[in-house]
Amino acid sequence: MDLKLHDTNPTEEERAAVDALLGNPESAWEGGERGSRVDAHVAMHGGRTTREKRHLLLPALQALQARVGWISESGLNYVCLRLNVPPADAWGVATFYALLSTTPRAKRVLHVCDDIVCRCKGALEIIDHLEKTVGPALAHEPAGDHVHVPESSWLRSPCLGLCDQAPAAFLQAAGAESLVTLRGREATAASLLSGHAPESVTQPQTLRYGDVTGPLLKRIGRVDPTDINAYRASGGFDALRKAREIGPEAIIKEVTESRLMGRGGAAFPTGRKWDAVAKQPARPHYLICNADESEPGTFKDRVLMEGDPFALVEAMAIAAHATGCERGYIYIRGEYPLATARLQNAIDQSRAHGHLGDAFDIEIRRGGGAYICGEETAIFNSIEGYRGEPRNKPPFPVQAGLFQRPTVVNNVETLANIPSIVLGGGAAYAKIGTEQSTGTRLFCLSGHVVNPGVYETPFGKKLGDLLEMAGGVPRGSKLQAILLGGAAGVFVKPDELDMPLTFEGARAAKATLGSGVIVAYDDTVDMKDILLRIAAFFRDESCGQCVPCRVGTVRQEEALHRIASGKTLGGVKKEVALLDEVGLGMKDASICGLGQTAYSAIESAIHRLGVL
Ligand SMILES: Cc1cc2nc3c(=O)[nH]c(=O)nc-3n(C[C@H](O)[C@H](O)[C@H](O)COP(=O)(O)O)c2cc1C
Ligand code: SF4
Ligand code: FES
Repeated sequence: MDLKLHDTNPTEEERAAVDALLGNPESAWEGGERGSRVDAHVAMHGGRTTREKRHLLLPALQALQARVGWISESGLNYVCLRLNVPPADAWGVATFYALLSTTPRAKRVLHVCDDIVCRCKGALEIIDHLEKTVGPALAHEPAGDHVHVPESSWLRSPCLGLCDQAPAAFLQAAGAESLVTLRGREATAASLLSGHAPESVTQPQTLRYGDVTGPLLKRIGRVDPTDINAYRASGGFDALRKAREIGPEAIIKEVTESRLMGRGGAAFPTGRKWDAVAKQPARPHYLICNADESEPGTFKDRVLMEGDPFALVEAMAIAAHATGCERGYIYIRGEYPLATARLQNAIDQSRAHGHLGDAFDIEIRRGGGAYICGEETAIFNSIEGYRGEPRNKPPFPVQAGLFQRPTVVNNVETLANIPSIVLGGGAAYAKIGTEQSTGTRLFCLSGHVVNPGVYETPFGKKLGDLLEMAGGVPRGSKLQAILLGGAAGVFVKPDELDMPLTFEGARAAKATLGSGVIVAYDDTVDMKDILLRIAAFFRDESCGQCVPCRVGTVRQEEALHRIASGKTLGGVKKEVALLDEVGLGMKDASICGLGQTAYSAIESAIHRLGVL
């Protein structure tokens, strides 16, 4: 293929970043020395071999971003040369992800969350102060005929999965990425300007979790998440041992009998999914753990991965044994560096102890800051090195998923249930909860509750019970609304606290549990402002591939802005009718769940809460 490469050479730093990932180039075709021996053997390094490296495109771009702070034309060019990808194609990928920059960017960037929880917890005041003291978001200053890029800068960010410790931020700096809790506006600005390890911006130390006796949270905060011996001493790997004894068919039988439903939002029966993949003759089979967790208000998977990473590795090994998967990927959002490090350590130690290896092994792939990449088919494209755009279904992932092979995709929390199902049996698991919603569930409580955090409870508790577990709304505050299921979920009223938090209970109440989000808003919150943020989120995160979603999310936000500013086209009633029509179009005609649910929270706020 003629790649139409640019006539630019990478800097030493860029070359080193890419070579550290890909190894040194073996031939002149890959940017190495001319006249090497392999250059004479084109068949050895022909099109197919190089095309098979395409899946390394995102990791290579991430390596450039991490080392250099941005992806220059020469850096991109070198990646393209190494991977045999046309620059125009790679450009499309590099510009898809929010954590990658194709313009010079400060080496330290603070991504300040201004999403649906943080903006009620002081984030907007911090941003206002940053604008005044540090300067506008990602500002570049002219310096003579050059552009001066400051050492530190900041950006607004969607939800970072740290809503329990809001206001939150993600510090992106070479070799020092971290999720942080912001403590005050002056302190945040001062730490960003100083360029030193910030006093005001600290790693979260005090984590609060609800019922830590449940099977999912039982080790969190009690068992050292970095030590395989501690994990083993707490019963770790007993389930994998048993799974290997009883064999794939028996495992799938137990999971089917447990009636475990996926916890990623779509509530699909896990046993049915596993059975479908196990029966596929095509090989290899892949297993993907969906750890992209970007639904605003959701942070349960982060807590599981940071607090009990070995359990996820064990669960994946069991899933792979049951479904015949040779290779597993954990697709984790790029803003979770601590969870990534803990999982990598758990994988390495598990491999060293023989729990992973030839028959099945796991690789971590980091997302690039794109909510849509949590959609299962978008993950396939992202891992394969393409823009993270969802695919049409059918074919379904169980038939033709990653690399067009049968693929199991499961959420972190779904998988976390597997060891106890294998050990205790599916029938015993199915006795917990209700007939249609079995087991325990993690709920992410945040916003105006006394003790935000992750709470585990058997299915069947009422919404009011969960709010009480989290200490209720702070004294002196009055509950105004509750958001269930995240930005793609539904607002409910304070007089709906009797709603049972089960799949069937939520369905009957025309609500959704989604990814277990419960955000409480007191009456100081301007709900119109929250709706505008939700609309901006979907407009920004739409991959733009299909018209109803690409255009609809923009029209939706515009109409809400007109209403908020009092400059309606023909009155609020007419604007609401337009919103309803656009919302219906998105629900009916969008390819994937993003477009299909982009109006649901806004619709419920208008028609259920009476906002607007
Ligand atoms: C826009 C969008 C984002 C999604 N994000 C996630 C996510 O971050 N984590 C997740 O587990 N599922 C997410 N899903 C759902 C997945 O597509 C898929 O249903 C899920 O990973 C299947 O696993 P489960 O059966 O264990 O729930 C998302 C879906 C959509 C439409
Ligand atoms: S619905 Fe939206 S996010 Fe989903 S494929 Fe279409 S444009 Fe992309
Ligand atoms: S971390 Fe800010 S809203 Fe979730």
